[in-house]
Amino acid sequence: MEGRVLVLLQFSFFLIFSVISSSLFVPPTLARFHAHKPKHHGHEHHHISIPPMASPAPSSPPPDDSTPTTSPAPEPASNQNPDAGNASNSSPVFNVLSFGAVGDAISDDTEAFKAAWDAARLVENATLLVPGRYSFLLQPAIFTGPCQKGFTFQVEGTVVPPDGPESWPQSNNKRQWLVFYRADEMTLRGGGLIDGRGQKWWNLPCKPHRGVNGTTLPGPCDSPVALRFFMSSNLTVRGLRINNSPQFHFRFDNCRNVVVDSITINAPALSPNTDGIHLENTNNVGIYNSVISNGDDCVSIGSGSYNVDIRNITCGPSHGISIGSLGNHNTRACVYNITVTKTTIRHSDNGVRIKTWQGGSGSVSGVTFSDIHMDAVRNPIIIDQYYCLTRACSNQTSAVYVSDVAYLNVKGTYDVRSPPMQFACSDAVPCTNLTLSDIELLPAQGDLLRDPVCWNAYGDPEALTIPPINSCLLEGFPKSIMDAEVDKC
Ligand SMILES: *[C@@H]1O[C@H](CO)[C@@H](O)[C@H](O)[C@H]1NC(C)=O
Ligand SMILES: *[C@@H]1O[C@H](CO)[C@@H](O)[C@H](O)[C@H]1NC(C)=O
Ligand SMILES: *[C@@H]1O[C@H](CO)[C@@H](O)[C@H](O)[C@H]1NC(C)=O
Ligand SMILES: *[C@@H]1O[C@H](CO)[C@@H](O)[C@H](O)[C@H]1NC(C)=O
Ligand SMILES: *[C@@H]1O[C@H](CO)[C@@H](O)[C@H](O)[C@H]1NC(C)=O
Ligand SMILES: *[C@@H]1O[C@H](CO)[C@@H](O)[C@H](O)[C@H]1NC(C)=O
Ligand SMILES: *[C@@H]1O[C@H](CO)[C@@H](O)[C@H](O)[C@H]1NC(C)=O
Repeated sequence: MEGRVLVLLQFSFFLIFSVISSSLFVPPTLARFHAHKPKHHGHEHHHISIPPMASPAPSSPPPDDSTPTTSPAPEPASNQNPDAGNASNSSPVFNVLSFGAVGDAISDDTEAFKAAWDAARLVENATLLVPGRYSFLLQPAIFTGPCQKGFTFQVEGTVVPPDGPESWPQSNNKRQWLVFYRADEMTLRGGGLIDGRGQKWWNLPCKPHRGVNGTTLPGPCDSPVALRFFMSSNLTVRGLRINNSPQFHFRFDNCRNVVVDSITINAPALSPNTDGIHLENTNNVGIYNSVISNGDDCVSIGSGSYNVDIRNITCGPSHGISIGSLGNHNTRACVYNITVTKTTIRHSDNGVRIKTWQGGSGSVSGVTFSDIHMDAVRNPIIIDQYYCLTRACSNQTSAVYVSDVAYLNVKGTYDVRSPPMQFACSDAVPCTNLTLSDIELLPAQGDLLRDPVCWNAYGDPEALTIPPINSCLLEGFPKSIMDAEVDKC
């Protein structure tokens, strides 16, 4: 499927240039990541939670300052509201310990969390506090909103699920652990840890290479997403650490107005399907200032997602930032207005990727990848419209149309096992208006340069790219697109 074009003239120029530049090129240090710590814990005054029996009924007004006791909470927690304690501006804290949670990582604290949730979500500016120095075991649970404005779910301690598939409650869905449903206006934050205990799930024989002698065997394979937000608007996730999810760490589906800021996600490079943040049918999203290392996509953007802004993320090891996979089982996908900027991707299988299956429809358009630093990445820039997990996908006559994709200031090193730039566009529907500017990708090791690979890719290198791409991309706009009924959405 690869249309390989050798560009001898540019290639020899590139050889000379790269000898000069690689001798000047200093590889970035392989600094290890440091878990992001919350900036400070205030010494504000807090209300302790009201006990479950005294929790306000749905229709009752928020408690006034005299309702909650004012003894200090077991563990001080920073509070968003600097005016906490001010009688005219109350911010009651609902500590899960006051609702019967034990926090010894053995007792089942699910009911206590649900009781705290039901009390706290109805009070404006309330905080559900998961205190530090405790570890809470939660069974799979759905926390259902709506929440009052200013509601904060604050995790300072550790939260863990049952340990592996054997311990998972039989009656329960094995595809999700903690679900926030219709949780409009919720903030999830804190300096604590959500530990998904994924190891036993990753070792299931059905997972890639986990069967006998590295095979993949049949058998139950469902594994839970750690945190799923479903049909919720105006969400903020800030400051948390999330480790070792059995499957995706975060999944937002059918959500709107989402900000994820300053989080840390950590799972081993070989943990299967542990995407960091997955978006599906979700729009108006900002993902900022976060560090993600895992065994699959750092961020993956699925069908129906648009207006997504990703800035200052460090990914790696990972499979990079992906749009897709889209168009599976002949589905229609619409993804547009996606920006990824000021991001570092290191030791990853892919850098910035768009992947679609044969036979889909719809489009991906208006995508900008800018100011991206690559460090020993296998496929730094890749469009793969032949995405296929089984090697048995036949070519089809329709495809998701990819257009208006810009790569600006993408620099660093690539793993020479794969070409640094690869535009494998569909036979049926070419990619159009690919723009490249300020691209400089050099081999991470040795002097072996790899050529870009283009197939049915139309676009415009605005300036010299390294390695050179201008005779690899096709010029202009393909007539076939004008003739064909492309379904741009
Ligand atoms: C699909 O098309 C690509 C590009 O033309 C080609 O390289 C590949 O061999 C085809 N695959 C199949 C299964 O026909
Ligand atoms: C909730 O917090 C907001 C912002 O701090 C404030 O304007 C509002 O008055 C608070 N509401 C209550 C009921 O305290
Ligand atoms: C696994 O590999 C070992 C050594 O090659 C072999 O003896 C054994 O039969 C294999 N087991 C299976 C189930 O294939
Ligand atoms: C989300 O926030 C916007 C802007 O503050 C507001 O207009 C909208 O009503 C909120 N939506 C929900 C479902 O709370
Ligand atoms: C980028 O994110 C990191 C955390 O990953 C943070 O320490 C740094 O201050 C952020 N940079 C900017 C310019 O916000
Ligand atoms: C694109 O998305 C950004 C948010 O990432 C938003 O601010 C902007 O208005 C969107 N552009 C259009 C044309 O909708
Ligand atoms: C090409 O794509 C860029 C965004 O990458 C967009 O600004 C521009 O309008 C597109 N050009 C055409 C002719 O559609």
